[in-house]
Amino acid sequence: MSDLVPVETVKAEALAAWAAAADLPALEQAKGAFLGAEGRFTALLRQLGTLAREERPAAGKLINAAKVELEAALAARRTELESRTALPKDPTDFTLPGRRRPLGRLHPLTQVTDDIVKAFRRLGFAVADGPELEDEHHCFDALNTPTDHPARDAQDTFFVDAPSRPLLRTHTSSVQIRVMEKQAPPIRIVVPGRVFRRDNADATHNPTFHQIEGLYVDRGVTVGDLKGTVEAVFRELLGDDVKLRFRPHYFSYTEPSLEIDFTNALVRKLGKEWLEIAGCGMVHPQVFENVGYDPEVWSGWAFGFGIERLAMLRYGITDIRLFYENDTRFLAQF
Ligand code: DAH
Repeated sequence: MSDLVPVETVKAEALAAWAAAADLPALEQAKGAFLGAEGRFTALLRQLGTLAREERPAAGKLINAAKVELEAALAARRTELESRTALPKDPTDFTLPGRRRPLGRLHPLTQVTDDIVKAFRRLGFAVADGPELEDEHHCFDALNTPTDHPARDAQDTFFVDAPSRPLLRTHTSSVQIRVMEKQAPPIRIVVPGRVFRRDNADATHNPTFHQIEGLYVDRGVTVGDLKGTVEAVFRELLGDDVKLRFRPHYFSYTEPSLEIDFTNALVRKLGKEWLEIAGCGMVHPQVFENVGYDPEVWSGWAFGFGIERLAMLRYGITDIRLFYENDTRFLAQF
């Protein structure tokens, strides 16, 4: 019968096919090829009928034993393949510490701005905001800037070509007016924001840069309050070896007006004695009149710092253009 029904050969081939199946679908296919209705092993069962009657019991036994063996091997292989897909051979250990990846960070100007704002918030200042596209009223007129002032010249200010003659604000001082027009005193605000001037780009100037404006209005406010506040904030930002100098100056919206010079080890290292860092002063009575505050009752001070200047001092940067180039080799250092 072994010629007629090559059980051992087909069984060996079927076992080899189970082992060779790399995944569950391949195993199902192999099963069909041997045990399916048209399968090669099933064909052996059919051949039983062609045997002589006395040969059938022995051949049947042989085939059934082989079938049991094949099905057991199939089940084992299936379990093996199933467990392989459920659990990778080299599972990830999620409890291991993460690998450091470059996630990006805040721009140095944002970091300095945040720190200045934080310092003022601790002193009770709120953050105010205003539009970058301004009108002459808020940027100049209400700030007592005369019509023939050079700052209003098209050489210095970006005017927008539209009937209402809007402009890109040249300073954040415009927001002082916007806040005072809307709000009754007392006022304690800082205004970080972007400003625009027709400066030629060189290592220290750029046509757009950032300022932070401060405004404090209450009864009986003095220059002493201004100096004390500004000194405390600068010390916090740039260290205890900071020295400030207040020099008389002129701004149309303050009287008296002062410029603030700054020095520390870094400034001296740059070969300079002092670096001009801000304008400030006591709010001009005319400005109070312009927004409907009674200058006999209210007094206040205001300032405007250049944020780039402060960031350059803090980090020892000598070229302002580095802030705007988005070179990650530069940005990744902060
Ligand atoms: N707006 C001035 C500038 O851009 C800075 C300034 C000076 C702001 C005096 C003030 C101030 O609030 O009182 O140069």
